[in-house]
Amino acid sequence: MITNTELEYKGDLYPTAVSSVQQEADSVFFHTDNNVILKITVLRDSLIRFRYTTKGYFSNDFSYAIDKSQSHGYNFLELIEQKTFYQINTSKLICRVSKTDLKILLTDLDNNVILEDELGFHWEENYNFGGNIVKMSKVSHDGESYYGLGDKASHSNLKGKRVENWAMDQYAFHKDQEPLYKVVPFYIGLHNRKAYGIFFDNTFRTNFDFAQERRNVTSFWAEGGEMNYYFIYGPQMADVVTTYTHLTGKPEMPPMWTLGYHQCKWSYYPESKVREITSKFRELQIPCDAIYLDIDYMDGFRCFTWNKEYFPDPKKMVAELAEDGFKTVVIIDPGIKIDKDYWVYKEALEKDYFCKRADGPYMKGKVWPGECNFPDYTNPEVREWWAGLFRELISDIGVKGVWNDMNEPAVMEVPGKTFPMDVRHDYDGNPCSHRKAHNIYGTQMARATYEGVKRFAYPKRPFIITRSAYSGAQRYTSSWTGDNVASWEHLWIANIQMQRMSISGMGFTGSDIGGFAEQPSGELYARWIQLGVFHPFCRTHSSGDHGDQEPWSFDEEVIDITRKFVSLRYQLLPYLYTMFYEYINDGVPMLKPLVYFDQEDPQTHYRTDEFIFGNHILVCPILEPNAQGRRMYLPVGNWYNYWTGELVSGKKELWVKTDYDQIPIFIKEGGIIPKYPVQQYVGELKFDEVTLEVYYKLGKEKSFLYEDAQDGYDYNKGRYSFSTFTFNGKENQLIIQQHKEGKFEIPYSKFKINLHGLPFQVKTIYIDNERAAADTIQFNGNTLFIDKDFTELHITGA
Ligand code: GLC
Repeated sequence: MITNTELEYKGDLYPTAVSSVQQEADSVFFHTDNNVILKITVLRDSLIRFRYTTKGYFSNDFSYAIDKSQSHGYNFLELIEQKTFYQINTSKLICRVSKTDLKILLTDLDNNVILEDELGFHWEENYNFGGNIVKMSKVSHDGESYYGLGDKASHSNLKGKRVENWAMDQYAFHKDQEPLYKVVPFYIGLHNRKAYGIFFDNTFRTNFDFAQERRNVTSFWAEGGEMNYYFIYGPQMADVVTTYTHLTGKPEMPPMWTLGYHQCKWSYYPESKVREITSKFRELQIPCDAIYLDIDYMDGFRCFTWNKEYFPDPKKMVAELAEDGFKTVVIIDPGIKIDKDYWVYKEALEKDYFCKRADGPYMKGKVWPGECNFPDYTNPEVREWWAGLFRELISDIGVKGVWNDMNEPAVMEVPGKTFPMDVRHDYDGNPCSHRKAHNIYGTQMARATYEGVKRFAYPKRPFIITRSAYSGAQRYTSSWTGDNVASWEHLWIANIQMQRMSISGMGFTGSDIGGFAEQPSGELYARWIQLGVFHPFCRTHSSGDHGDQEPWSFDEEVIDITRKFVSLRYQLLPYLYTMFYEYINDGVPMLKPLVYFDQEDPQTHYRTDEFIFGNHILVCPILEPNAQGRRMYLPVGNWYNYWTGELVSGKKELWVKTDYDQIPIFIKEGGIIPKYPVQQYVGELKFDEVTLEVYYKLGKEKSFLYEDAQDGYDYNKGRYSFSTFTFNGKENQLIIQQHKEGKFEIPYSKFKINLHGLPFQVKTIYIDNERAAADTIQFNGNTLFIDKDFTELHITGA
């Protein structure tokens, strides 16, 4: 593998002075004497694209990451010429382009510098491969912080670090390991309380240096392709993240069962073992919705086949598991075994769908089945064929989800652990080498899988999970963080990775709970479950070459803790589902790091452990053995200790005492948290009431509740229910107003309202302006029942 540094270095090249400027609709083109063109496109008033070429013309504009279904539009755009620079004004930003060297300066309308070129755009001709190594450097200020970049296993604030984006199978990775499985070339900068984002949409190997090499410089570069980045202005981090997520796309609603608990291992077989595992969950009353079959379910690791000795009648097994509430998810890898008697291999060979080396032969590499060829998922025809392969698994056998692994792509026993760089790819009609297609390969595999599962699962929703991903993959798939380790350090890493993925547009992610490699102690497993139930994707997985990793592999206490926390997750399903809805609708990250929650407070800039789950629940995991509690930071606002009910004011560090079966959880005052009864799987119970936990606040607060049929697409036709609850607390009264949208008929009739922290004794209760008689609302202590369609609940105190 040739890396940047091994190439013969002939010096950097820079743009010369601007020779002409033209505006065409939303774009302004700046030409220099040395054939550089900078194209600046205003997509929104706070979203600007910068594209550079050194050839005097632009190549075909194609991106897998950008969601083409999203619309953009700006309110205002003007181009002004000044003595030494050109200036583009939008209603939110000013962008100056220097006439002498094409350097960019971005400011807000008050002339506060948001981001400024240091050397700006420069490049180095790539003599070995053609094209350029394209580079960008920006000024980095003292006190500036950096976040984002997907699955990086480093401190959440990336200041002082250099990261590399090259999808890589990293078994048992460690803290600060580079590169990892996913590629999300998007970061958020925070300086002077203003946040901005950069999305460098380039699938070649990229690097980002956040003031590591030079103290006041942040730079990013790619080994080929174009300097092509999007600048997103906040000033709130929330604006940056939602705009980025809008740009690269959002998923559809997942079936609700996918938000339940999943159990996995490499591997559960034969069938009797699978049934033993699922029965044990029911026996111990630990809720569980999904059981996974790892590679051993296949016949010799051939995708789309079954080992009939282990699984003589998969259809019957899958159906019987389904009767007990278990959805079956199976693994499908990209490597197709070279075997002339294997139908998938034969078909792909006949149709010429495998990736080829530059000189013609098929790309051959070893994975689990031995020597394999690999479909070129960057070819739309191949994706279509691949999608069709899922017919039997999904339509006939009844599998509910597909797990895509090894799609970095991973190759065994070779340096670099992947394809040679000369391998050719279609890249949707923009033919290229593996240098360009590598980082997108996994996403295109997951996309093809998604198309297939969606087609055959219809009218139900599909479920896909992938290991490798590039920006935009969230439109098709959920993900997990790959082969982690059963260690306390990895628990810390998992917590950061999930927050980071959330603010990088890919929120539907989880870690292998308990750790994939090595064996967790019961205590570590318990601490991991306690965190994992607050991650959008919640699955225990392990490599199986050590001991077992089912909850009952540990002692009674761990079983009880697992039951308690997984049950809590099931109670919180409507809350989690609502978080998901805000994510797919508005791009709001499901987990919010403290810096996202309050960027004004510098104390949050280097916090790693605490995060907000949804809008109102603050979670802080226990990351050390033998803890009786921990020190943590509570951000701005007043918070109820979930376990004790005590109200604590934030913006301070505090010691929180917790028992072994607890972790610090706080509820933001004013929050209304919906809860379902505990079910052993989604849809197990029919219930007539939903609980609303109401946390009193002096003042106003909004909460939401989204519901639909929990599967299917009717929600797209307006059959959903979205309630906005406005809480308004005064000294001796409180008012909760409900505003409802959508046409979904909710199957339950009432809310059970639990009032927490009321500072007064309840005297009267009015529902929709009518005084409620005690017997109609069953008022009891701080609990009352009320029709689910209420519009106003007004409680006054004595
Ligand atoms: C890879 C995956 C892991 C899986 C194993 C066998 O290591 O990351 O999750 O269990 O392959 O398929």
